[in-house]
Amino acid sequence: MIEKNEYYSVEFVDMTHDGMGVCKIDGFPIFVANALKGEKAEIKIVKVNASFGFGRLVEMIHKSPFRKEPICDHFSECGGCNLMHMNYQMQLDFKKHRTKETLRKLGKIDTKVNETLGMLNPYYYRNKAVIPFGEENGKMISGLYKSRTHDIIDMKKCYIIPKITTDIVKFMKNVFEELNIPAYNETIGTGVVRCLVVRNSYKFDDISVTIVTLTPKLPKKDIIVKKLVSRYKKVVSVVHNFNPDNTNIIMGKKSKVIYGEDFIRDEINGVFFKISHRSFYQVNPIQTEALYSKAIEYADLTTDEVIIDAYCGIGTIGLTAAKYAKTLLGVDIVKQAISDATENAKNNGISNFKFVAGKAEDVILQWKNYNVDVLFVDPPRKGCDKKFLKTVIEMKIPKIVYISCNVSTLARDLNYLQANGYQVLEVTPFDMFPQTSHIETVTKLRLKKQEL
Ligand SMILES: C[S@@+](CC[C@H](N)C(=O)[O-])C[C@H]1O[C@@H](n2cnc3c(N)ncnc32)[C@H](O)[C@@H]1O
Repeated sequence: MIEKNEYYSVEFVDMTHDGMGVCKIDGFPIFVANALKGEKAEIKIVKVNASFGFGRLVEMIHKSPFRKEPICDHFSECGGCNLMHMNYQMQLDFKKHRTKETLRKLGKIDTKVNETLGMLNPYYYRNKAVIPFGEENGKMISGLYKSRTHDIIDMKKCYIIPKITTDIVKFMKNVFEELNIPAYNETIGTGVVRCLVVRNSYKFDDISVTIVTLTPKLPKKDIIVKKLVSRYKKVVSVVHNFNPDNTNIIMGKKSKVIYGEDFIRDEINGVFFKISHRSFYQVNPIQTEALYSKAIEYADLTTDEVIIDAYCGIGTIGLTAAKYAKTLLGVDIVKQAISDATENAKNNGISNFKFVAGKAEDVILQWKNYNVDVLFVDPPRKGCDKKFLKTVIEMKIPKIVYISCNVSTLARDLNYLQANGYQVLEVTPFDMFPQTSHIETVTKLRLKKQEL
């Protein structure tokens, strides 16, 4: 029997979905962080559950040729970049393999999975950073959560957010300290500053900063704003968000613009967008352009189609596809995103559209008789609502392009579509989140001829 605190020499035979090495001791699986498939090491058992356990690396005996020394000093503590110990090609291969295996095991789908489309420079790509604030030994700290905890690591540098974002966070920490504005203490529910949300535009220079506080007021807000915008001219929007709840949800319901406008501008594949502080926007702008191009290629549009952009956010996919279609219908649950989408359409001279705020599973019922040709669907991590998919099947929409940020829920949804007349033709993984184990995919589906 495997027991806690025992030492073993092991060989890693697989990887978990979040990049841990898997070894087996008498057939019993043990997961170890910072270990790669093919490596041999001495490990210490730190936890044993009924059907698996966790170990800690004690000494590496044989290193994988695909190992890369993580460039970040926070790697061993931070939960963010859990693949940084793999070289980039291995990260891309890992994501392709995970996609194929998850679709096969969870979805019973055996389809063509293309190579993962990677980045030329897989660093500093995130256009949005959420940085929690806290206190340590009486000093304010700001940074990233330690893996699987709510303990904050005081961030010196981060290799996946733009350098200017790290600078702004450090600058704001100094401003709060100088003005005696304390950080939120999650344990006892006191303090003021919970986190900063910094968003950068890729094609423009715009930056927005949202300051989330526990208190309804942001003390000395005029001084804070003055200091921030005079130091960083690119900051065009500062928003104060009030979040009094004991929750993991980042923003509370109430927000107030305290400087500039409530949006930044950006451009994707020639279409301009206004993005307000609450609206969803893809976090990797370079990969987003490639992702949307692939989605449009999979839709095979001829300018004659009625298309739906479901879970459309600010309308990015639909509006980039609109010039190749006859009519665009879009739906998102966030009202502000829909008003952004509508404005974005008008600003781009697009008129063949209808955006509706509401639940995709409800709104699609209004479009049942529209003879929809193509469905673009890009749900949140939990995947599509079953009622939504049921209506899609009833509508016999001939082409579906499914964009997903969670291969497990993708597998579940594809399984349902496959069982109801759709053929899963191919899947392309995109590396939207380099250094991390998150996978984005685009899937091409067609309704089988006999179902039409
Ligand atoms: C992964 S984002 C995709 C957004 C957009 N397609 C894009 O690429 O920027 C998922 C979107 O689903 C929306 N959403 C979540 N639940 C929803 C529901 N039940 N009905 C409609 N939209 C929903 C969220 O507001 C979010 O904008």
